[in-house]
Amino acid sequence: MGITYFEDNKVFKLDTNRSTYIIHILGDEKFVSHVYYGHKLDSHKLNYLMLMGQEPVASKPMDRDRLGFMSNFPKEYPTAGLGDFKEDALSIRRKNGTFAVGLNYKSHNIYKGKKALKGLPHAFGTEENVTTLELICEDAPTGLEITLNYSVFEDTDIIVRSTTIKNAGNESLYLTRALSAAMDFDNDNYDILTLYGDWAKEAQISRCPLTYGKHGVESVNGKSGVTYQPFIAVLQHNADQDKGEVYGMHFIYSGNFLANVSMVHYEKVRMVMGISPYNFNWLLEPGEEFQTPEAVLVHSEEGIGGMTRSLHDFYRDHVIRSKYVHKKRPVLINNWEATYFDFNSDKLVSIAEEAAKSGIEMLVMDDGWFGIRNDDSRGLGDWFVNEDKLPGGLKPLVDRVNALGMKFGIWFEPEMICPVSELYEQHPDWAIALPDRKPACSRSQYVLDLTREEVADAVYKMVYDVLKSANIEYVKWDMNRQLCDIGSATLPPERMGEFHHRYMLAVYRMQERLLTDFPDLLLENCSSGGARFDPGMLFYGPQIWASDDSDAIERLSIQEGLGMLYPLSSIGAHVSDCPNHNTGRTTPFETRGIVAMAGTFGYELDITRIPEADRAQIPGQVKRYHEVNHIVRDGDYYRLAQYSENNRWDAYMSVTKDKKEALVTYVRVINRVCEKPVRVKLKGLDPAKTYTVEGEDRTYTGEELMYGGIVFDTPYGMGDFKAKMLHIKEK
Ligand code: GLA
Repeated sequence: MGITYFEDNKVFKLDTNRSTYIIHILGDEKFVSHVYYGHKLDSHKLNYLMLMGQEPVASKPMDRDRLGFMSNFPKEYPTAGLGDFKEDALSIRRKNGTFAVGLNYKSHNIYKGKKALKGLPHAFGTEENVTTLELICEDAPTGLEITLNYSVFEDTDIIVRSTTIKNAGNESLYLTRALSAAMDFDNDNYDILTLYGDWAKEAQISRCPLTYGKHGVESVNGKSGVTYQPFIAVLQHNADQDKGEVYGMHFIYSGNFLANVSMVHYEKVRMVMGISPYNFNWLLEPGEEFQTPEAVLVHSEEGIGGMTRSLHDFYRDHVIRSKYVHKKRPVLINNWEATYFDFNSDKLVSIAEEAAKSGIEMLVMDDGWFGIRNDDSRGLGDWFVNEDKLPGGLKPLVDRVNALGMKFGIWFEPEMICPVSELYEQHPDWAIALPDRKPACSRSQYVLDLTREEVADAVYKMVYDVLKSANIEYVKWDMNRQLCDIGSATLPPERMGEFHHRYMLAVYRMQERLLTDFPDLLLENCSSGGARFDPGMLFYGPQIWASDDSDAIERLSIQEGLGMLYPLSSIGAHVSDCPNHNTGRTTPFETRGIVAMAGTFGYELDITRIPEADRAQIPGQVKRYHEVNHIVRDGDYYRLAQYSENNRWDAYMSVTKDKKEALVTYVRVINRVCEKPVRVKLKGLDPAKTYTVEGEDRTYTGEELMYGGIVFDTPYGMGDFKAKMLHIKEK
C-alpha cells in the first residue's frame, strides 16, 4: 500500500518505489505540516525535522509568539493572511472584504485507485498501481472545506496533488488564489530548472542557482504558452543527467499557470504550482465546489535523467488516454510547408500518390481548405469546404487518397474566428472582447468566447459535420494566438474573473466531445507549434506538434527540452525541405530523418518537387521507422550529450524496458579538426548482456558499451550537420 497513516505520531507516509513523502498533523489545532520528501524510508518518525521549539519554528502554536510559529512551520498548503508571509496557495475574498483563510485537519480517507476529475484532464490508474489520500480540512470561520488530494503512483515514483475547495458555509465568497500544490523544505545548495521559449524556439532549458527571493515562471495569456513550460524543478547544484537529487513539479493543465520557488531567511524554500492568480476570482456560492487541476510531483536521485524517465512512464501509462499511446502512429505527410495555402485536390493527390510509393501512410491536409481561406488574413470559423479548391467537397478527395492505401487527416483551428469570415458577419459578439475597446487581432484572428455554450456548440457542430462527411482518421487541432481583451458578452460581472479557467474547461469539453464521437480518431494538438505543449493536452491527444521550426539542428534543443519532460512518442517531428523555411539552413536529408525519428515521425514537404536523391531515401527512412519506433516510443530515454551545452554535438538513446534493444543517435553539428575523437559512453544497457552494434561485425558486452563507450567520430570525421543512428541488439 502506497499510503499509511500512523496514529501514534499522526503521520501520513506516502511511498513510491523509490521515494517517501511525510505529512504530520500538528498539535491541538491540527495544522497540516510537511515533514519530508526524498529518498525512500522505512521510518515514519521524522517529525523531529520540524524543529519545534528551535529556531526558526521557535514556539508552539499557543505560545506568546504565535506569529513566529505561523510564519515558519512547514506547510502542506499555505493559506493567506494568518501570519505566513511567503507565497500562499489559497486566498479568498469574503463579503466583509477580508482575505484570510486557515486550514485545519478534520478527517481523511485512504483508498486504492484514484477518482477522475470531472471536466479536467487528470492522471488515472488502477487499484493495483495507485493509492489515494484525501486529507479533509476545514476553515471554521468561513465554512470552507478544503480537501488536499494525494495520489501515489508507486511504479513511476510520482505523486499527484490537487485541492478541492467546497463552500460548506452559508456565505458566498471568492477564491482569489487556489493553487494545486505547495511544498516547504530547506535549501540544499539547489539550482532551479525551468524551460522557456518563443514561437519556433520552444522548450529551451534554463538553469540557475537558487538565491534569496522569488523565482518562477507564469503564463497569463490564456494557454500554458510558449514563454515557459508549466514546470519547475529544484535540483542539487552538482546534479546532472545521471546523479543528484531533483524535485520537479509539472502541471496537468493547459491554461494560465504559476510555478515558483522562493527562498527566505534560514534558507527556507517554498515551491508552488497552480492556476495563475492573474484575473482569477472564482465565486463560490454555498454548496459549490472548486476543483484545482493536478500537479505532478517527481523526486529523482538519478539526476535529471531519472526525473525524465519517471515522467515519461507516468505520462505514457497514467495520463495519455489515447489507444494509440503504445502503438506505432502512421507515417504522415503534411502539406503545410509543401504548399501553404496554395493547393487543390489534384495537388494533394499528386503528393499522396508519390508518398504512397515511398510507404508513407497518411496525408494530412493543413490550413486553407475551408471558407475563403486563401491566406492567413481570413476565413477562420467557416468550417465548410472551399469547393474551388476541393471540387465536390471532401469525400471525393478522401476517397482518392484512401484508394492509394493512405489514411487522411485534416487541420482545424476551432477556437478562432477571423473578422473577415461569414461567422463573424453573423456573430460579431462571439469573439472575446471588451465592450468599450477595440480587441487586438493576432494573425488576423480573434478567439471565440467558448465559455458560451451556444458558441462552443455551433463550432463543434461544424467540425463534427466535416468529420462525418468523409473517412477522416486524424485531426490536427491548432490554436494560433493568445487570449487578451478578456470580456464575455454573457458572463455576469461577478463571474468575469472566472473567464480564463472557464475557457480552458470549454476547450477540454470540446475535445472530450470529439473523442467521444470519434473514438478512433488520432488527435494531434498544436498551438503555433508547441505553444500549448503540456500534460493537460496529452490527456486528449497522444501527440503534439512540437514546433514550427522543423530545421533539424534547431530541433535538437527543442526536442531535448521537450524530451526532458514528455515521452518522445508525444513529440510531433517531421522531415522538411531545405533550405529550411525558418533558418535557410541546408542539412543532409539523412540527418533530417534521423532527428525526426526521435518523435512521431513524418514529412512536411512537397515530395513531388524535392531532389530525386532525397526522395530516394524516403522508403528506407520509413522502413527504418517501422523497425525502431517501438524502442523510441516505449523505451527508456537517456541523454548522452547536449549540443545546447557543448555547441558541437548531440547524442541520446532509447533502450527497451527489457534492455534487449537500443537506438543511439549521434548528430555532429559542427565539425572541428584536431579534437579528440567523440567517444560516447552508452547508458541504460544490461552490463552482462552481449550486444551487436549495427554496422560492426564484432559484439560488445553492455559493460563495454557503457564504460568503454564507442567512438562515433574522429577529428577528421563526419562533417557538419551529419548524423548517425545505431540499432543495438542483444545477441
Ligand atoms: C500553425 C501550425 C502550423 C500550421 C499553421 C497553419 O502555425 O503550427 O503547423 O498548421 O499554423 O496556419
